[in-house]
Amino acid sequence: MTNSPRVTVKTLLSMKRRGERISMLTAYDYPTAKLLDESNIDCILVGDSLGMVIQGRTTTVPVTVEEMIYHGEMVSRATKRAMVIVDLPFPVGQLGVAHTLATAADIMKKTECHAVKLEGGHQQADTIKALVDAGIPTIAHIGLRPQSVHALGGYKVQRDADRLFEDATSAEKAGAFIVLIECVPSELASQVTKMLSVPTIGIGAGPHCDGQVLVTNDMLGWNSGYIPKFVRPFANLRVEASKAIEQYRSQVTSGEFPGSQESFE
Ligand code: KIV
Repeated sequence: MTNSPRVTVKTLLSMKRRGERISMLTAYDYPTAKLLDESNIDCILVGDSLGMVIQGRTTTVPVTVEEMIYHGEMVSRATKRAMVIVDLPFPVGQLGVAHTLATAADIMKKTECHAVKLEGGHQQADTIKALVDAGIPTIAHIGLRPQSVHALGGYKVQRDADRLFEDATSAEKAGAFIVLIECVPSELASQVTKMLSVPTIGIGAGPHCDGQVLVTNDMLGWNSGYIPKFVRPFANLRVEASKAIEQYRSQVTSGEFPGSQESFE
């Protein structure tokens, strides 16, 4: 169990200055968040990827504010050290500054998270500024923005350098404390990282970002569906779990389970 102080915006900015890499993973429930926190992961993202990972949907678009609050609250309760960030689901960031601010504040109050993330950079500058002015640390998610998957024509690598640079610099100027870059060529992410004084966190954005994020279920091999190229399988939990479940089934069928050890006198 960790006794280190909570990771804050200041911690992450100093890590960038010192050249220390930032680790971020997703969690949607209490036990996973507890494990990540105890493993000293710096930031835990309650991503709207929960729509795909937990709910089995094909996009993140249907995820609601209530669902983000439900999962965010469990994750916050499990952590002592990690910064907890909750995604603003579609279309919260598109409904005007006042609406976004009210929703982000509601999410912060109800989940006790430490920051929010929203998709977009240049087009979101006014909203990011309003959130930051209200004391809500905000991450801008640029490059591939999964909430816009239908407009982008699929989950594709984003190669528009001008758009990426404009999104990144606008987000930093508006006050974002992290710029999260998804699915862009490594060289572009590297240029953005050098350009900004706030940290960049990459997912499918190569090795030169100030930190990395992955969906925990993907990197643990817990998902059965499509696994993107940028995921490294650090474990294969699905195979392990499947073996255990098969053993259980077979021992229940044969009468081997439960034995005397698992029974009461
Ligand atoms: O929703 C999410 O989990 C994310 C990460 C994949 C960056 O946005």
